[in-house]
Amino acid sequence: MTFSVAQVRADFPILAQEVNGQPLVYLDSAASAQKPAQVIDAEAAFYRHDYAAVHRGVHTLSARATEKMENVRRLAAQFINARSAEELVFVRGTTEGINLVANSWGTSNVRAGDNIVISEMEHHANIVPWQMLCARVGAELRAIPLNPDGTLRREALAGLFDDKTRLLAITQVSNVLGTENPLAELCALAHRHGAKVLVDGAQAVMHRRVDVQALECDFYAFSGHKLYGPGGIGVLYAKEALLEEMPPWQGGGAMIASVSLREGTRWAKSPWRFEAGTPNTGGIIGLGAAIEYVSALGLEKIGAYEQTLMRYALRRLAEVPDLTLYGPTERLGVIAFNLGKHHAYDVGSFLDGYGIAVRTGHHCAMPLMAYYNVPAMCRASLALYNTHEEVDRLVDGLQRIHRLLG
Ligand SMILES: Cc1ncc(COP(=O)(O)O)c(C=O)c1O
Repeated sequence: MTFSVAQVRADFPILAQEVNGQPLVYLDSAASAQKPAQVIDAEAAFYRHDYAAVHRGVHTLSARATEKMENVRRLAAQFINARSAEELVFVRGTTEGINLVANSWGTSNVRAGDNIVISEMEHHANIVPWQMLCARVGAELRAIPLNPDGTLRREALAGLFDDKTRLLAITQVSNVLGTENPLAELCALAHRHGAKVLVDGAQAVMHRRVDVQALECDFYAFSGHKLYGPGGIGVLYAKEALLEEMPPWQGGGAMIASVSLREGTRWAKSPWRFEAGTPNTGGIIGLGAAIEYVSALGLEKIGAYEQTLMRYALRRLAEVPDLTLYGPTERLGVIAFNLGKHHAYDVGSFLDGYGIAVRTGHHCAMPLMAYYNVPAMCRASLALYNTHEEVDRLVDGLQRIHRLLG
């Protein structure tokens, strides 16, 4: 079956509307993607027919809801090629996944004098938890510097790793530049120094087939809402041996084997030890539907279509006068830019007036803004439902703004 963007668009009811008198052009999927009817309907059907609190119930609905939730754990494990479903923890999103690792694994494995390596292109979600951990235990945070084209400065790598490096925490794809980092090389380097590797997959899973075993990473986190699934649900993968050793980070119901006021608490086994409280089961069901949706379309086909669109967009954007693009030529999913000296907010507001939704601001990557010496950028995301005509609308809009504002 070939990839038909018209058919795909028909699955996304929200796209068929006008904004400010123009057909909506949604170019903000890297912040949060729209949801196909398959996801919306799966979640609604779950609430209509199968909903109940999971795990502790003996009644039929509870058992059914539990089974459906655990099926999604298996599906998500297959999706990223984990060895088993027990290597997957349901979390609220990438942010919570990273915080879980920082608080649980980090607190018990990172000591004063140790160091953690990140990169200068990280999202705040993959910076701040490590800053907090380092401040707590007296460790050092190091950042891989960038080349002007938004790739990692490889020649700086060797000097950043030593026998005190405990972790490399790195994004697979930059949410601003679209840079795809050389993970195989980075994982091998970190492992040679005895360090673990956490991969922030928030901007990768919707564009690429991910294989955590092939990557050989130790942790991998992603969010459902960027993968055409619901908000408030995500996945943390951790190698089973690591997860089994890690202490819980939040206490409460569902994560215990037994609780005694006199003898204390025994933990449940992983991954349930990390899922305190009542889970977002509706979100989990929606995530399962989202994984089925992209898997049925085929990530290779999605990726090939998006690459064609990306090449077209870069070619067309070169026609806009005074446009500065940030990031490498080979990129995934996003195009960050500024128009002349105009603030990104002004450009974004004008585009909204033409019915075009782009993101503006620091994109939760203030160190990256500092590197490029700008307060903000505009960012257009290209997702599986975007079209060549929408790219033309963006280019026309930018040309109009340039004519109006100079
Ligand atoms: C690269 C990257 N990491 C982490 C996050 C945080 O994801 P969430 O807000 O879903 O936890 C984002 C979201 O924009 C992101 O783009």
